[in-house]
Amino acid sequence: MTILDSSYFDAPIDRRGSHSLRWEKYAGRDVIPLWVADTDFRAPPAVIEALRARVEHGIFGYTMPSPELGAVIIDRMSRLYAWEVKAEWIVYLPGVVSALYMAANRLCAPGQHVLTPDPVYYHLFRAAKAAPRAWTEVPMIVQGGRWVWDEDALAAAVRPESRLLMLCNPHNPGGTIFTRAELQRLAAFAQRHDLLIISDEIHCDLLLDAGKPHVPIASLGSEVSRRTVTVMAPSKTFNIAGAGMAYAIVEDPALREAFAFDLKKSVHDAGLFGYEAGLAAYRDGEDWLCAQLDYLRANRDLVERSVAALPGVRMVHLEATYLAWIDCSGLGLADPQAHFLAHGLGLSPGADFGAPQYVRLNFGTRRVLLEQAMERFEAAVRAA
Ligand SMILES: Cc1ncc(COP(=O)(O)O)c(C=O)c1O
Repeated sequence: MTILDSSYFDAPIDRRGSHSLRWEKYAGRDVIPLWVADTDFRAPPAVIEALRARVEHGIFGYTMPSPELGAVIIDRMSRLYAWEVKAEWIVYLPGVVSALYMAANRLCAPGQHVLTPDPVYYHLFRAAKAAPRAWTEVPMIVQGGRWVWDEDALAAAVRPESRLLMLCNPHNPGGTIFTRAELQRLAAFAQRHDLLIISDEIHCDLLLDAGKPHVPIASLGSEVSRRTVTVMAPSKTFNIAGAGMAYAIVEDPALREAFAFDLKKSVHDAGLFGYEAGLAAYRDGEDWLCAQLDYLRANRDLVERSVAALPGVRMVHLEATYLAWIDCSGLGLADPQAHFLAHGLGLSPGADFGAPQYVRLNFGTRRVLLEQAMERFEAAVRAA
């Protein structure tokens, strides 16, 4: 039996040569890749076992989600959020990003308008741009040491033709777990202006602070649930993003119909291995998840300590995700990402998220590698 403690996450597993997006980007170079949002951890043993058993079967034809997967998701929503979801509300998808593009295109007619937070995971505003729909990026501000919506700016940005509010909760980047009160205000705002909501909750299990629960905005009540498409996935939580499976939860039948209209023509079904991995992860992966959160918490603390000790860089305390959002404006660099890359660190450029003076550092990696990365980070800061 695998003992789930930090040794599982410390295990040195070489991802080079495994066609990992994250590692191939800098193949052959002395660069520690801390950019795209997956981790360097092996998935839960239960997932590996389930996939092994499925591979042994040897036939990988067209497939469908098992009723058990739906039941596990329904149970999870009820247990974690007291949110009573019905099987027919669930729409399976190959990934969360597809849902963002579908929402911008289908829930918002030409001539209507989208509200997105800024900064944010870039596919939110890119979805509006691709639809194409007019959109306004509403600033997030630091208040009480947390990144939150600037609610005055939100009120100023809404237009009569606004139709869709895009949320990312927990927030990427910035790591905010929005509180029930904050979400209630957003829900009331959506109601006042008759907005639909697409809520990207892919990071909902990566909660690093005790006593700060995730609240799906749709779980606040039927008024908000009726106007919301919630998107979740086991992919970030259990490091199975390559398996390809996500799901939307949409209570209102007309909204579900509009969102999933012609689903087959826009995206492929989720994959067989995604369904298998997702089911095993949700059903049998809780111990692994707890151990992973302990490990990530210690990594987060290491990054926060390192950043706090250095001049010219800063970050607010990260409540969730494994993605540190670091303000480098004190360094006076034209291109912070390029500067860190020159010092052997592959970070995500803040410009992608709408903030060129920031970098995003993925600390979902082995502790020893992260320690080495933070040494490089310090050298880069001191050289700036
Ligand atoms: C907020 C957010 N949404 C969606 C995704 C990607 O989702 P998927 O791989 O399921 O398309 C990411 C990945 O980093 C993310 O951070």
